[in-house]
Order: sequence, then C-alpha cells, then structure tokens
Amino acid sequence: MSTNETQAPRQNVLEVQELSKSFTVSAGGGSRQLKALDGISLSVGKGETLGLVGESGCGKSTLARTLMMLETPDDGTVRFDGQDPFALKGKELLAWRRRVQMVFQDPFASLNARMSAGQIISEPFATHKDLYRGSAARSKRLNVLLDLVGLRSTDAYKTPQEFSGGQRQRIGIARALALDPDLLILDEPVSALDLSVQAQVLNLLNELQQQLGVSYIFISHDLSVVRHVTDRVAVMYLGRIIETGVTEDVFDRPLHPYTAALMSASPKLDPAMRPAKRIVLAGELPSPLDPPSGCRFRTRCWKAEDICASRRPDAAGPAADGSISLGMPAIGPAERAHMAECHFPISSPAEAGLVPAG
Ligand SMILES: Nc1ncnc2c1ncn2[C@@H]1O[C@H](COP(=O)(O)OP(=O)(O)O)[C@@H](O)[C@H]1O
Ligand code: SF4
Ligand SMILES: [Mg+2]
Repeated sequence: MSTNETQAPRQNVLEVQELSKSFTVSAGGGSRQLKALDGISLSVGKGETLGLVGESGCGKSTLARTLMMLETPDDGTVRFDGQDPFALKGKELLAWRRRVQMVFQDPFASLNARMSAGQIISEPFATHKDLYRGSAARSKRLNVLLDLVGLRSTDAYKTPQEFSGGQRQRIGIARALALDPDLLILDEPVSALDLSVQAQVLNLLNELQQQLGVSYIFISHDLSVVRHVTDRVAVMYLGRIIETGVTEDVFDRPLHPYTAALMSASPKLDPAMRPAKRIVLAGELPSPLDPPSGCRFRTRCWKAEDICASRRPDAAGPAADGSISLGMPAIGPAERAHMAECHFPISSPAEAGLVPAG
C-alpha cells in the first residue's frame, strides 16, 4: 500500500528461507506425505504489503499458519526481526506472539457470538497482562482501537450478531491490532464481504498501515484487489513461490506462464493493459500428494518441453537490457527483484496476451 520507492536499504520485518511443511494424510489404506509447502523463501519489509496469490489448495493458509507458529515447519528458517520465533520460550515467546497477528476470512465464524465486541477486542490483554495494566488503561486502549477501525465506543457493548459483515471484520481487525503488532497476516480478509463493503475495509487497512507502519501479508485469490493494495506480490503454485516481484512488474510483465494464465483469467485488471488473447489454463491443479516431476506447472503449461519434466527450473529474471536469461542477475536490489521459476519465461507482455490499451 505504501509505494516504497526509496532505494535506501530496506528493513525487513520477516525473512523466510526454504520453508517446507508436510502433512501425513491417509491415502489408499496407508499413510502418505502431502507437501503443502516446498521450499518457500520470501521477505516482508517494514510497512510493506506483500500479496500472496494462487489457486485454492496451493498452500497459502498453511504458510500463514506456519508463520503464526500454529504449524511447525519440517525444514527452513524463519527470522522475525532477526530472531527465530521457533527457538523462543516462555516470556520471549509470549512477547513475540504479540508482534504477529492474523485476520481471518470469515468475520461471521471467527468471532465468538457470546462475547461483546469490547470483550472480543480486549481478550488479548488477558494473555499479555504487562501491556495494558488495570481496567482504566484497558478501557482507554479499547476506545482507541474502536476509533482506529471506525466503530463507536458504544459498539463495545454489542454482540457480533448486531453488526454487519463489514463491521464484524472491523472488530476482527481491531482485535488483531490490540497489542500493536508489527505484522498482520490477512487471509482473504475481504472475500466474504459485499463489493462495496470490500472497498471500505481495504481503505481502512490502507489508512491503518499509513498511520501505524504495520506490515501486511495479504492473501487473496482476487487479483484486482491484490493489484490495488500490495507493494510486492508472490505467486504460489503447489507449495512453491513460482514468481515474485514488485506488483506492477508482475502484473504488467508476467514472466511465468502460470502467472500469465492467472492474469488472463482476470481480464479487468488494469485499464492500461488489455488482454489481446485469452490464455486458458488447461487441466486440473495436480494433487500435492503426487506433484509432477521437474516443473510443477508442466502438466498445464503450453510452453512445456522435455527439460521441464526432468529438471526443476532455477529462478530467472530480466537482465538490465530487459532480456531474460537463466541465472542472470535481476534488475535492482534483491527485494525488488522480479524472478520466476521457469525454463522458458515469457519474453514480452504480448506473449502473455497483454497489450497496452488504446
Ligand atoms: N491439516 C492438514 N492436514 C492435511 N492436509 C492439509 C492440512 N492443511 C492443509 N492441507 C493440504 O495442504 C494443501 C494446501 O492447503 P492450504 O494451505 O489450505 O491452501 P490454500 O490456503 O492456498 O487454499 C492442500 O492440499 C490441503 O488439502
Ligand atoms: S519450466 Fe517449462 S513447464 Fe514450467 S512453466 Fe516454464 S515452460 Fe512451463
Ligand atoms: Mg486458504
């Protein structure tokens, strides 16, 4: 949501390297490993919004849950302000938990119907007793939070049923902000809301970020929303990030055939670019129990060649002259780099079926 255009070294709040997570699932009378995350690397800058997109089942929520420490990774490292949260214990762990919070998709299911809005928002104070001591401090903080999300102080006494969907999501956001976190993970935060209400909640999130400097990981299957609210974006396919870069770069000049197909399926993305031809995604998302060898997208890719089945592609990005070649350094500092895992990346917006409008 911030433009983050400065070239000064960026401060990362979160750095993830080669994160993997498998689940043991029963299949065909036995048990098998389902690799929900397979070597995820990403970073999130201070005050930045990183978008996470991909079809249902690609691992977005598993990544969110692992970053929240609700799942234990099999492999890889997570650094939050340089600290490994999985190594923390006791008070240090409690202090860390305050700093990363989550907002869930469904504001109807995620709020306890028997509690008032005030109780829901204040609940985290009970676990983190040192932050707001005494009822006066807590009630003051509650009023600040209600005001931040555009609710009235009298709303504190109402139960979730008395609110609309958009207002309920404001309660969820206020609760997530209660302990002044550094990172909010928003898992499809507006998908359950009507279009007009979506815009209001997205504007609120934008204002809160400007005001509080909080970082967001914004998970959504709605590409037009992602284009609108994120600074950088990571595209996931079957447990891997297959393309990442500054949002405009990824949307206007997709490198990975999968990203191009996603854009093509969402034609109203950008008034400046219009689809000249529709790329239709062939076939189904393969089962993560049995992912394709080599490039995981190869069973649906119109550019696939023999090497795609035998060798997983390394990340490739555009060189300074705009040409794309494997292993070439991408333009700009690492965190702004535009990279895709593909043996034969898309070479121009026209190849992705996108042409300038007009
Ligand atoms: N607790 C679990 N046990 C077994 N499989 C799971 C579990 N959680 C997620 N999965 C599987 O992991 C894959 C990724 O799921 P998920 O992270 O929910 O994807 P997304 O949020 O992108 O839709 C899916 O194949 C899903 O069925
Ligand atoms: S590596 Fe091959 S199969 Fe995979 S996306 Fe690129 S061209 Fe398609
Ligand atoms: Mg999900």
